[in-house]
Amino acid sequence: MSNGVLFGDLIAAVCFILALKGLSAPRTARYGNWAGAAGAALAVIISLSTGHLQHVGLILLAVVIGAVIGVPAATRVKMTAMPQLVAIFNGVGGGAAAVVALVEFLTVAHNSSLISAGDQVATVFTILVGSVSFSGSMITFAKLQELMTTRPVVLPAGRWISSGVFAAAIVLGIVGVPVRSTGLLVVLMLVSLGLGVLFVLPVGGADVPIVISLLNAFTGLTVAASGYVLGNTLLIVAGTLVGASGTILTRLMAAAMGRPITGILFGAFRAQVGGPAAAAENRPVRSGTPEDIAILLGYARKVIIVPGYGLAVAQGQHTIRELADLLAARGVKVAYGIHPVAGRMPGHMNVLLAEANVPYEALLEMDEANSELSSADVALVVGANDVVNPAAKTTPGAPIYGMPIINVDQAAAVVFCKRSLRPGFAGIENELLYDPKTTLLFGDAKESLGKVVAAVKSL
Ligand code: TAP
Repeated sequence: MSNGVLFGDLIAAVCFILALKGLSAPRTARYGNWAGAAGAALAVIISLSTGHLQHVGLILLAVVIGAVIGVPAATRVKMTAMPQLVAIFNGVGGGAAAVVALVEFLTVAHNSSLISAGDQVATVFTILVGSVSFSGSMITFAKLQELMTTRPVVLPAGRWISSGVFAAAIVLGIVGVPVRSTGLLVVLMLVSLGLGVLFVLPVGGADVPIVISLLNAFTGLTVAASGYVLGNTLLIVAGTLVGASGTILTRLMAAAMGRPITGILFGAFRAQVGGPAAAAENRPVRSGTPEDIAILLGYARKVIIVPGYGLAVAQGQHTIRELADLLAARGVKVAYGIHPVAGRMPGHMNVLLAEANVPYEALLEMDEANSELSSADVALVVGANDVVNPAAKTTPGAPIYGMPIINVDQAAAVVFCKRSLRPGFAGIENELLYDPKTTLLFGDAKESLGKVVAAVKSL
């Protein structure tokens, strides 16, 4: 490998590290993204310019096809559908790494009599984990896109079937690689694809984004292993970074939901507690008009806004910002309490509010928000439910039991802005909706908040 290539690899690797650093804070995320894209572009240019490549025309054709599909998909995707997009892109990466490792191994195996044990292990690992990542990601995509049920699908004796398929994959790998059998390795790939499906089917509802993050880590490790097979340092570096960051993100998300990763993978969210919402809809609640809410907010001293998934669905970020600005102009202290798993992807609320230029200083992390809430006059919950549901603290057995929440019940008054009494993602009742200190502002968040804005202006 020439010094120029090595130097280029080093620069690209530094770009990837800077990308991760940048993406760790909302303020620097845009630069992080650019650094990552620059590193990837540089890596492609280096690979194309080494002069060892065959079928360059076909490679360029693949790049064009990928760009034609990927660019519109990424630019047009709605923010709420981002997890699906990440799932499908990630799956394709894992699948590609598995196929590349298979082809490379078979090419080397036919041309050389000696293949190191390390190459053999890396090949089996790449085919197995890359295929699991591909098919598992496709199932998470189908679940999030509601092309299939979002509930856990538990097959009879599913755990035994999965264990059996896993054992079969290992045996195929152990037998197939030393005898260099194309047939056996292709069967290994097919069995691993089946394993990915079995792995993700029992995971339900709100746990799916965590599994996407885990599969993302799998893809990273697959890419690193394929880098080993191909002798490509940059793939090893990039794959390891993705593997490590995906693993850390998975752990952080599981911790924010107060659930062990094993519980998520093998215990799935099941709505065991909290009867159907319809039964509870007969119970009395207190609802208010936009004018009522405007008075409550306009004459408060301190208001904490807690946004959730519904704010993103309603695209009400600009309206909430307008309301917050109006209140601040009246001397009300306003801040936003951000739960780490509010919405449907990590940082969802930060990204949403950044779109409306909400200053970062106004965003409080969950612990900070909780320390402010007992002195707040109003907690304004906009399109959030699970992340403020006290069942997480009071109802053992509830799917969200143990998840740290934003304690809006500590505020003097609570306003919920949502369309109905329907539950959130975890599918369970929220007792706080029926609390005497709670007022419900029914309706789409953007529309309702727009009316509140108008009413505050006329106070
Ligand atoms: P949810 O608990 O899902 O509640 C969202 C609420 O928004 C619903 O109750 C819904 O009530 C309301 N809503 C929907 N559309 C609306 C609209 N147009 N206008 C006003 N309200 C609307 O959301 P959350 O509190 O943000 O909690 C997030 C959930 O996702 C948690 O269970 C979390 O564990 C899970 N999760 C998140 C992540 C990440 S990383 N963010 C990852 C995995 C799982 P109505 O239908 O009555 O309007």
